[in-house]
Amino acid sequence: MKKAVVITGASSGIGAATAIHFGKNGYFVYLMGRNKDRLAEVAVQCRAGASLMSCDLTDVAALNKRIAEILATNIHRVEVLVNNAGIFDVHSTEQGTDELWQREFEVNLMSAVRLTRAFFPYFKQHGGGSIVNVSSSLGLKPTAATSAYSAMKAAMINYTQSNALEGGAFGIRANCVAPGIVDTPIHSFHALDEAMKAESVAKMGPMQPLGRIGTVDEIAKAIYFLGSNDSSWTTGAVLPIDGGITIS
Ligand SMILES: NC(=O)c1ccc[n+]([C@@H]2O[C@H](COP(=O)([O-])OP(=O)(O)OC[C@H]3O[C@@H](n4cnc5c(N)ncnc54)[C@H](OP(=O)(O)O)[C@@H]3O)[C@@H](O)[C@H]2O)c1
Repeated sequence: MKKAVVITGASSGIGAATAIHFGKNGYFVYLMGRNKDRLAEVAVQCRAGASLMSCDLTDVAALNKRIAEILATNIHRVEVLVNNAGIFDVHSTEQGTDELWQREFEVNLMSAVRLTRAFFPYFKQHGGGSIVNVSSSLGLKPTAATSAYSAMKAAMINYTQSNALEGGAFGIRANCVAPGIVDTPIHSFHALDEAMKAESVAKMGPMQPLGRIGTVDEIAKAIYFLGSNDSSWTTGAVLPIDGGITIS
């Protein structure tokens, strides 16, 4: 059976780059996201083939239907699950409404919980598997006005380590990346016109000891490392990929 990877948030940014990177390395890719057009654009760049699994991850019935379709496959053996989808709300403590917290919880944490719960028995049955969760440098060290996001990303780290402890005996590894500032549509600066964006990116550079923000490929390569057998003796790890911002 051909090896496969399931990636959430594969229609954009880090998830799209990760899908393409796994594809280059011979993985069939199950692409999850809401935007079908963008998923289709990513699919054509996945060299080893891809399947579009569009759904809103907060729609539990739709998600379960997609999970069942993937688990029923007998052409591919899913070896890796990448929980990458996320949203980023900036708000003060006082502006943090229940609705806003609930949305962060559902997209940034519960989507990973539901997928992991579904894939654990599959991985056990197939002699192992690898889970990579996308946290954030803010999950290690929060900033002001990101409380809901930072709390979910911190929970993601803790959740990953629980899964690593439970999964070890079954050959299931669980690891986490903690990216710093990466140029993707999740940030408002991404959509600025060229000159304004360059100015904004230049201002952010000195926040990192390495003097610049990151690229999606730099995160994709680390996710690939943790997902693939290249990291066969690594579990429960939290890898900051952040130009050093977390230690600054
Ligand atoms: N960029 C950074 O600086 C940075 C730093 C640290 C961590 N991260 C984390 O990296 C991950 C990827 O973010 P990104 O920067 O690549 O942002 P992005 O380009 O905005 O991508 C976010 C992805 O999440 C998907 N998504 C959001 N809500 C969804 C929902 N309800 N149902 C299904 N899919 C949903 C989007 O799919 P659709 O658009 O198709 O709905 C999209 O593919 C996130 O977890 C983010 O928190 C990013």
